[in-house]
Parts: sequence; structure tokens; C-alpha cells
Amino acid sequence: MTEQELWKLLDNMSLEEKAGQLVQCNAGQFIENHLEITGPNGESLPAEELNRVMGSVLTFEDAKQAKALQDKHLAADPNKIPLLLMLDVIHGLRTTYPIPLAMGCSFDDGLMAECADMARKESAACGVHVTFNPMVDTARDARWGRILETNSEEPLINSRMGAALVRATQGDSLADPGNVACCVKHYAAYGAGEAGRDYNTVDVSERMLRETYLPAYKACLRAGARLIMPSFNALNGVPSVANKHLMNDILRKEWGFNGVVISDYDAVGELVTHGIAEDLKDAARLAMEAGCDIDMVKNAYYLHLAELVREGKVAEEKLNAAVMRVLRLKNELGLFENPYHGADEEAEEKLYLCPEHREIARRAAEETAVLLKNEGILPFRKEVKRVALIGPFAEETRLNGFWSRPGAERYTVTIPEGIRALLPEVELVTEKGCGVEIGDTDLSGIDRAAEIAAGADAVILALGEPENYSGEGRSRAELTLPGPQLELARSVLQANANTAVILFNGRPLVLNGLARTAPAILEMWYPGTEAGNAVARLLWGEANPCGKLSAGLPRSVGQYPMPYNRMNTGRPKPEPDDQPAPFSSCYLDMPNLPLYSFGYGLSYTSFAYEKLELSRRTLEKGGMLQVTVTVRNTGSVPGKETVQLYFRDPVASVVRPVQQLLDYRKVFLNPGEAAEVVFTVREEQFRFYGMNGEEISEPGEIRISTGYADHLILTERFLLLPESVNDH
Ligand code: GLC
Repeated sequence: MTEQELWKLLDNMSLEEKAGQLVQCNAGQFIENHLEITGPNGESLPAEELNRVMGSVLTFEDAKQAKALQDKHLAADPNKIPLLLMLDVIHGLRTTYPIPLAMGCSFDDGLMAECADMARKESAACGVHVTFNPMVDTARDARWGRILETNSEEPLINSRMGAALVRATQGDSLADPGNVACCVKHYAAYGAGEAGRDYNTVDVSERMLRETYLPAYKACLRAGARLIMPSFNALNGVPSVANKHLMNDILRKEWGFNGVVISDYDAVGELVTHGIAEDLKDAARLAMEAGCDIDMVKNAYYLHLAELVREGKVAEEKLNAAVMRVLRLKNELGLFENPYHGADEEAEEKLYLCPEHREIARRAAEETAVLLKNEGILPFRKEVKRVALIGPFAEETRLNGFWSRPGAERYTVTIPEGIRALLPEVELVTEKGCGVEIGDTDLSGIDRAAEIAAGADAVILALGEPENYSGEGRSRAELTLPGPQLELARSVLQANANTAVILFNGRPLVLNGLARTAPAILEMWYPGTEAGNAVARLLWGEANPCGKLSAGLPRSVGQYPMPYNRMNTGRPKPEPDDQPAPFSSCYLDMPNLPLYSFGYGLSYTSFAYEKLELSRRTLEKGGMLQVTVTVRNTGSVPGKETVQLYFRDPVASVVRPVQQLLDYRKVFLNPGEAAEVVFTVREEQFRFYGMNGEEISEPGEIRISTGYADHLILTERFLLLPESVNDH
């Protein structure tokens, strides 16, 4: 359709039909026979009427349903406007790859793109037009259950990986039925909820908003994401979906975004609960005024938009502009010509869990694992005969994490399956040992588990937190291993010193006791479909762990917030961190630093950082310089290392972090091999949000280091020049 034809279509629509284009319903209500639909206040909504006017649906299962939904709607819609079909495909559709927080630990944008491309193929075959992904909410508090859904506490990683996912998912043209549109979320600062509680109030400075929370959404929109979803939370007093500063000043005017804004689930209606709307009609007015195009599920727009326009409380031009953004998206997806888009049952059959997709998922599970500790225990010897696999996750299938698609656990390769596939001869004994729920106190299985451990050549202790303890609405005030897992670990570690702990969890956990007593700890997060194969290959050295923490692991929940890029304060704590230092910014009962810092992770080999060189010692406005880091594999096995660059601006017109990630690159090195990793660094990367609300960099020294957070090495300096002076 041409733009003109779209406007013609709009002109033929009634106010009710226009409002209908901005209504999104749950698909489930239409897949079976029309179930009675109840509205926000319990009134029954006419399913047939909604099916006729609605513009989009969310959450369906497969191509067959996708086609049925489209057929049912088009048969009833006099304007023959196809539905948009949307789904949460967050880390895989049928082939599940690791949770986004794990993906961040790969520090590999290319791996993110590979996984996203795999998910795109399966999503398109399923009939998905729009995925509610990427979620790029910077998260710095592991009490928040949705930290699992984002890549990192560092906005640079969220920006680069989010943009990589958008490019891989949308491809070159959305008219290609194999491509899927992205909806970036949750705009904005959803990860900054007070007390780590989901949906909670967010109150941050404009500087914090712009430097920590906004960059990743902006990067994803710059990468072409066609939709954005405002967050549930109130931001500085106004819920995002009605927040004109966010939705109009920044999104539309400053960033020039002309795509679709879709509310989160019921968020328009929640304006009443937040206390800024009198009733649902008022909520509809506020959301439309702020620029929210689609009302997800609450039907506020369905029930009240036409009336608000007739009463002159919402300008019809505003309604028309919103409808046109939705129609343009449908048109760009080619839905008027091909309403099924990529829905294809045969393609589903061929693609789902195919060997190529399983290989990608397995490689991702291997590259996102973080080796936290290893006192010579790992990798296990291949000759090992008798292995004890102990713990509540020993035979668990739910290793996919929140937002994996329903039933994903049916396809998980368990740890025993992975070990037997790799070592068919091994004698494997499994024992759960204890429960894993908060409140589990039964210790009766621990003695048996210890006995089994004592009789084994090697022990794997599979611990963690249940899959449903993280994700939406799943915040925790404590971050310890739930149930009597530490008691189990104590007994098993006493029974056999050749014990490796593997962890399955969706958030950074507090591991203090375990970190002291376990000789080896491998953080697996929720690794997805290929969990068991990845665990076996990592434990026996077929794969060499190379993950680095994309969020620090705290010693205690009391340390939060503990961003790695902290400010120095006027009384920074002097070394050593493990001793209190009165009258400095410290705790009397605990060190300041995390147990394991951002950017930390071990390998089965070792790496030496030999040199860091700068191509120049000055940098003018708009200029660039090269930083070359020489790193060598000084161990006996091949391995991958993520070379990280950090910078510090020690003196500026506002306080600046003591360390800030500037760039990262992963390199593969054989034993003895060295690489010169060259980074191009631009003056723009040193700009910050100045006192007067503008992005500036200032003349003065910049320090460049490598290593990882709180462990910076090889620091070199250069001068940022004043604007007028050129370097030549
Ligand atoms: C949920 C989530 C959002 C998701 C949407 C649709 O409440 O907040 O991330 O995309 O509803 O399922």
C-alpha cells in the first residue's frame, strides 16, 4: 500500500474502528470459540465486536493459531486490516538459548546476533510479526527479579547487544516474511525500582537517567527497532505511559522516533491505580496525550477513545497519527499483501530444535558460563570412573529461565543426559540431597548424599534458585541459596574434596560461605535447551570457560546499590578493602567491593597482559586514537579472553566514575600465542551530561586501563584538548 492509500483507508474508518486499531487483546480469547471477555471493571466485552475492530493480539503458540487468528479477524473486519501478531520471544522460541543476563557474560555481540538470528527464524515460522524484545533495562540490583532479562549492569553492553539483537531480528526489510519487528523495552529506568521491587517507584536525576538508563533504548532505536514499550513504573512522579517528558520531549522530539509506542500489559489502566487518572476514561486520555499508540489488553482505548474525541478531549489528529503509525508498521511488514507473514507449519517442523540451532544454543551456554573459582579441580579427568551428581538441580529440566516459552523444559538436555552423551562409560550416581524452596528445612537426604559423594572419584554439586524465583514479579529481599543447600554443600564438600559446584540462577546470588569452602564454582545461569551438553563439555574441558560477569556478585544484599562504575566520594575507603577504615565511605561489618567484580571470570588457561599502548597522547574534539593491548595465552590449553578497556576522567565539572567500561573485544588464543587487540577510541566516548544538561567532554587528562573492574592494570594517559586547539 502507498502512503496515500493508507490515508484513504484511514479516512474510511469510523472513530470506533480507528480506536480499535490501537487495541491489543490476548489472543487466547479468540483462538478457541469466543470466550466471554470481561473488561477492567468486570463488564463483559463483546468478543465478536473486539475481533472485528482490534488491531493486534499478543501471546499465541504456533503458525496454525497465527493463521486462524488472522482468518477469524479478516473475515469480520469490513476494512480488511490485518492483525499484528506479537509475542515475547526473549531468549529463543523453541530452541532456548541462555537468559539475557548470561548472554551479557559472553561479552560477544556476534554470539548475541547468532542467537537472535536463530530465534528470528523460529519466530517467523511461528507467525510472529513483532517480538517484545530486546529488554535493555540497565539493572544494578539483583533483588529485582527481572535482572535476568537484561544483559548487564553496564549500559554499554546493553546498548551493543540490544542493537545486535535488533539488527539480527529485523534483517534488511520487514517485508521479508523471515524477519520480525522488534519492540525495545521497558522505557524507561524500569530496573531502578526502589528496594529492588518490581513495578516500584523510580526517582533518578536527569543525569542518572541520561547516562545510565536511556543509552540502551536509544541504541536499539538507532539500530532500527520499530516499536518501544513504556515501563510500568512511575518515573520522577509520572508513570512512563503518561510521561510526556519521556514519550514526547525525548522520544519523539530529541530522538526523532516515528515508530509505534505500545503500553505494557494493562499499564494504561494502571494510571488509575498509580493515582494520576480519575478513571479508565481519564487514563485513556492521559496515555493518548502522552503519545501511547497501542493500549495492551486493558481496552481503555476501546471503551473511551471515540467518546473522548467526540467530546473534544482528545484531538482526532492525535488519534489519526497513532493509527497511521500502526498502519505503516503493518504495511512495512507486508501484511496487507501477505497477512500470514512468515507463518509456516512445515518451517516450524524443520527449524525447531534442529541440529544447527542446538549447536548455537550449546555454544552460547558454554560461552556464557563464568568460572568463579577453580583450585585445580577442573577440568575433571576423562579417565574418571565414578561420578556423583548431587543437588536439587541434578536432574532438573527447568534450566531455561523466565520467558522461555511454555513447555521449554520438555526439550532440555539434563545434566545426566549431557554427561552420558560425552562419557558413555562413566558410572553416574545422582542424588537430590535437599529441597530448593524458601522454607525447605528437611535435612534427611543430606547424609545419603554425603555417602554417595564419599564413594565417587569426582562430585558435581548442582545448586541454585528455582526457575520461578526470578523474572517478572519475582523480586527477593534475600539473595542466598534457598532451602538447606548450604548444609548439603557443607556435608558433600567434607565427604569429597574433589567437588565442583555448578550454579543455576537468574540473578547474582550471595555465595559467601560457598566461595570460601568450594574448590571450584561454575556459574551457569539458566543455560537453556542445551544445558546438560554444555555442563558436561565445560566440566571435562571440551569447552574452556570464558564468560566474564556482566554484573558484580555481592557479598550481601546490604551492599546494593553497588554499581561497578561508582564515584570516588570525598572519603574513599583506603586499601585494604577487607578492613574497616573509620571516617571513610565503608561498612564496619563488610568490605565495600563485591565478592566477584564486574568483568571477572577465570579460564582453564591463563592470560598475561603485556602492553597497553596509545597511538597519540592528545585527542581533539571529534578526533580518535588507537589503544593497543597485547595479551598472551600463558597456559597450556587454547582459550578465549575478553579484553576490556576502562577509562577514568579524574577531574571534571561533575564527579565522574572511578572506572567506566570503554570497549571490549573477545580473542581466541592458542597456548603461547599473543594478540595485539586494537581499539579505536573516539572523543565522543568521553562526553558526559554536564551541569547545564548538555553532552560535553572537557579538556584534561583521561586514564585508559585494561584488566577488569576494581582490578585495573597497565594504565596510560592522554590529554583531551580544548575545543579550539587542534593536535596537528
Ligand atoms: C509483561 C511484561 C512485558 C511483556 C508484556 C507482554 O507484563 O512486562 O515485558 O512484553 O507483558 O507479555
